[in-house]
Amino acid sequence: MLWPVTAERDDAGRLAVGGVSLPGLAEQFGTPLYVYDEQTIRQQCRAYKSAFDQHYPHSRVVYAGKAFLAPSLIRIIQDEGLSLDVVSAGELYVAVKSGFPPERITFHGNNKSPDELRMALEAGVGEIVIDNFYEIEVLGGLLAAHGGRVDALLRLNPGIDTHTHDYRKTGIVDSKFGLLIETGDAAKAVELISKTEGIQLRGYHIHLGSQIFEIEPYQAAVESLFEFATEMRDRFGIVPDQISPGGGLGIQYESTDPDASVEDFARTVAEATRAGAERMGIDLPELIVEPGRSIIGPAGVAVYRVGSIKDIPGVRRYVCVDGGMADNIRPPLYDAVYEAALANRDDGDEATVTIAGKYCESGDVLIRDARLRSPESGDLIAIPASGAYCLAMASNYNMALRPAVVMVRDGETTVMQRRERFEDLLARDVMVGQVPSH
Ligand SMILES: Cc1ncc(COP(=O)(O)O)c(C=O)c1O
Repeated sequence: MLWPVTAERDDAGRLAVGGVSLPGLAEQFGTPLYVYDEQTIRQQCRAYKSAFDQHYPHSRVVYAGKAFLAPSLIRIIQDEGLSLDVVSAGELYVAVKSGFPPERITFHGNNKSPDELRMALEAGVGEIVIDNFYEIEVLGGLLAAHGGRVDALLRLNPGIDTHTHDYRKTGIVDSKFGLLIETGDAAKAVELISKTEGIQLRGYHIHLGSQIFEIEPYQAAVESLFEFATEMRDRFGIVPDQISPGGGLGIQYESTDPDASVEDFARTVAEATRAGAERMGIDLPELIVEPGRSIIGPAGVAVYRVGSIKDIPGVRRYVCVDGGMADNIRPPLYDAVYEAALANRDDGDEATVTIAGKYCESGDVLIRDARLRSPESGDLIAIPASGAYCLAMASNYNMALRPAVVMVRDGETTVMQRRERFEDLLARDVMVGQVPSH
C-alpha cells in the first residue's frame, strides 16, 4: 500500500484523497501541505487489532506516538482501542492534554530525565519501560520520596541484527537502547529492580529497529526474551506477565518495496510467545506490540508546489519544490527513498527528475531519480507514505514555517494543525529589555 486506500484520480487527472481533491486543498491551505486519510489510519489500526485478537487475544496494540502525534490523531487512536507509547515529557503532555487515558500510556526513552519520570508518575502512566541503571536509581528515589508504585518493563538488547538502515537499528550490540543480555547488564538491572521498593517488574521489552520487513528476527527476539526470563525466574523468582517485541514493521515507500503483512507478524510473534511461555511453564503473558510507522505512514501524503526547474545537461534536471528537509528530513538523514506523482494532472511524457527542496543544503533532496510526468513550474507534486517521521522531525530550518496538516474523510476536510505563522518564529525569542517568563 503506497497511497492511502481512498486515493483516486478524477477524469481530469487530478488526485484526490478521502474524496477531497488535492489541488483544491493546495489552493485552500497552501503548500507544502500534509494530508492524512482517516480511513487509512483506522484501517491500519483495525488490521493490527484484528490480527492480534485472532492470533493472541491477550494482547495490546500500542501506537508509537513518535511517528506523529497530534490531538486529532490521538482521538482516533483512542477511538480504535489502541494504547499509546510516548518517549518524552512533550509527547506525554500532548497525550494527556488531548484526553488520552494515562493508564493506557507507556513511557519509553533511552534517557528519561528525573523531571520526565516524575511527570510520568504524577500523570499515572500505565507503565514505564526502563532502559538503563540510571532510571532505576532515579525512579527508586522518586518512589521512596513520594511513595506509590509503578509497573515497569525492562528494555533488553538482544544483540539481533536486521536489514534496515544503521540509524534505524536499535537491537544490535552497538546500540544506545536497552541493556545487553550478553554482557550481563540486563540481569544486573533485574536484580537491582527486584531490590527497589515500588517498581513492579511486569516483564521484558525488546525493540529491533524500524522499517523492517523480515519477520524471522522477531521470532528470534521473542525466543531470547524467554530464555532471559527463564534465567531471571530461576535466579530471582520473577515471572513475566507482560512481554513486548516492540514495533517496527516496514511500509512501502516505493512500489517495489515488499508489502509487509501484519497478519504474518501477528502470527509469528504469537506463536513464539506461546512456545516461549510453554517452555517456561508459565501462564500466557500479555503480548504488547508498538507499531508507529505502519499505522500512520501510509495515511499521509505530502503536497508541494514546483517552483524553479534547473537543467544540468547530461547530469540531471532539478525540480525544486516549496518544502524539503524542514518538513521531511528522512532522505538526507538516512537515505530514505520515495516515489511521487503529479497531483494536478496525469498527462504528458514521463521524465526522470530530481525533486529538490528549497533549503540551504545540497543534501536537501526529496527524491533523487523520480519518474514523473515532466513537471513544470506551478505543478503540484504529491509524495505518498509521508505520514510517519516527517512532521514528527520537522524543523524551522531557514525559518521555514511548518506546514498545515489536514485530515480528510468522505469528502470532508478538518484542519489538524494550522500552518505556522511568521509570529510563531519569534514566539520563544526574548526581545531586548524583556524579562523571560521561564
Ligand atoms: C521502542 C519503540 N517502539 C516502537 C517504535 C515504532 O517503530 P515503527 O514506527 O517502526 O513501527 C519505535 C521506533 O523506533 C521504538 O523505538
